[in-house]
Amino acid sequence: MELKNKFILDACCGGRMLWFNKKHPNTIYIDNRIAEKGHIDHRPNHEVQPDRVMDFTKLEFEDNSFKLVVFDPPHLKTLGKNSRFAKTYGSLNAETWQYDLAKGFKECWRVLDDYGVLIFKWNEEEISSETVLSLFIEKPLFGHTTGSKSRTKWFCFIKIPIANGGTNFTKSSADDFPTESLISVKRQSADSQNSPHDTLKAKEEANFS
Ligand SMILES: C[S@@+](CC[C@H](N)C(=O)[O-])C[C@H]1O[C@@H](n2cnc3c(N)ncnc32)[C@H](O)[C@@H]1O
Repeated sequence: MELKNKFILDACCGGRMLWFNKKHPNTIYIDNRIAEKGHIDHRPNHEVQPDRVMDFTKLEFEDNSFKLVVFDPPHLKTLGKNSRFAKTYGSLNAETWQYDLAKGFKECWRVLDDYGVLIFKWNEEEISSETVLSLFIEKPLFGHTTGSKSRTKWFCFIKIPIANGGTNFTKSSADDFPTESLISVKRQSADSQNSPHDTLKAKEEANFS
């Protein structure tokens, strides 16, 4: 895909509510859905109009394409699809959310350039920051808490190339990265007779490939 002057990626832009300039000329906005104005009654101007419909677990960009990546995925897994909140912010798949977030972060990291910055936003209503960060292949430099209930966290990551020492916490092999939560997912999948084999395989690939 030709990116020209697009060196910023919003990997799940939703309604672009966090942007001061919702049409920033150097940014490519993606989301896995389109929603027209009027799709939610309480926010008549809310719309989801990504530049490209794309899945953050399968980004269609070359490695090292962006200087800044914004990753603000859904954070709730217990919502009905038609709830206002799900329509506004999307929702996590209750079965695959660990895989999806792990793979999403890994993809964001892949398309981030050396010395590029990744901003990750998370709300701890249902899942703690500790849990979600344990799914990622890197650790943040620092973070900050916002929101009326102090549940919204912002984290800053930088991609330091190996030639310059690498990012401190880069995990280099599968053995370095069997997080508790993912072990638990694998156990649940392995224990469940109904779990399809390929779901387990996909989770393993997200982490260990
Ligand atoms: C928390 S909202 C983003 C809000 C946005 N930052 C804003 O300022 O309005 C999360 C968005 O992620 C999108 N999303 C969920 N799964 C996705 C996926 N696999 N790939 C791309 N976007 C996804 C949802 O459709 C939703 O719009």
